[in-house]
Amino acid sequence: MTRILGIETSCDETAAAVVEDGRTILSNAIASQVDLHAQYGGVFPEMASRAHVEAIVPIVEQALRDAHVGWDDLHAIAVTYGPGLPGSLLVGLNFAKGAALGRGLPLVPVNHLEGHLYAHWLHVADEDEEITLDFPLLALIVSGGHTELILMRDHGQYTYLGGTLDDAAGEAFDKVARMLELGYPGGPIIEEKARQGNPRAFELPRAWLPGTHDFSFSGLKTAVLRTLERHNGPRPPRFYTDMAASFQAAVVEVLAEKTARAAHEHAVNAVLLSGGVSANRSLRAATRARVAVRVHSLPLILCTDNAAMIAAAGTQHYHAGVRASWDLDIDPGLRLA
Ligand code: KG4
Ligand code: ZN
Repeated sequence: MTRILGIETSCDETAAAVVEDGRTILSNAIASQVDLHAQYGGVFPEMASRAHVEAIVPIVEQALRDAHVGWDDLHAIAVTYGPGLPGSLLVGLNFAKGAALGRGLPLVPVNHLEGHLYAHWLHVADEDEEITLDFPLLALIVSGGHTELILMRDHGQYTYLGGTLDDAAGEAFDKVARMLELGYPGGPIIEEKARQGNPRAFELPRAWLPGTHDFSFSGLKTAVLRTLERHNGPRPPRFYTDMAASFQAAVVEVLAEKTARAAHEHAVNAVLLSGGVSANRSLRAATRARVAVRVHSLPLILCTDNAAMIAAAGTQHYHAGVRASWDLDIDPGLRLA
């Protein structure tokens, strides 16, 4: 049995978790900074790193307490070292180095995106124990910072198929919510509003970028802005629900359709939906409607940033003999083929 402590501080969540065998979540502690950043309508990097400094020790202590384990019961510490906000990553990485050195534990470096992939190997209480994911797999990672299609041929073997050329999908949700003065984070609010709106009320552009697996959401964002400008003055509540529904439909249609095309092209056995935006029910439904193979989605806590997924990816690396050196630095780049 392998028991690993995962640490994640790449963005606005300070998280620590204990996971057994890369599969069983013993604890999954998260201190979210959403309330702190809500006033800015997005993550404020300098405030994020300060909040991580305050939260990291209590969150790790909580993760150990919740898991009913001590430092001596751990086999390694896995930590996110990139990509993410440099000031935020440094807090987790330096804490993990200090703890690993002090406790005599190996330190295992994890790429944040790999964490989002390995969240799918974690056991979820209400899910059939027997689920197995056979390679090749296609992952759509959609969050506030990422929109990526990644082909996974085996453990540790990734091919970057495409990604956003401008805004991440979650960023587009957040920015449009801000334009509509709906609040932050925008994704869940827009999804809720969209339920009462007409997705065909406004004609909004879809960037198909033919011949690529890339995405672009800046044109869509500008189109929402132009429509708002045309409808200035007092707007009925219907305007907001219709705009939310039309915007969501435009994002979801492109994400689902391009994921389906990539899944077909690479003959994958399953599609994995990861990241905060994958909590969106409309995206899940649209992807399932278009993809012939199984579409695996996650409970909300495992969609958004968490440390259980970092421990899960770390377990894979641990068994492959991957160890960080003590001078490991943050790596904001993508270490993908
Ligand atoms: O994975 P995550 O917690 O953080 C990042 O790594 O960025 O994702 C947060 C993003 C935010 O942009 C938020 O608006 C979006 O995920 N989000 C959603 C939904 N829930 C969260 N977007 C669309 N629909 C949702 N239900
Ligand atoms: Zn993330």
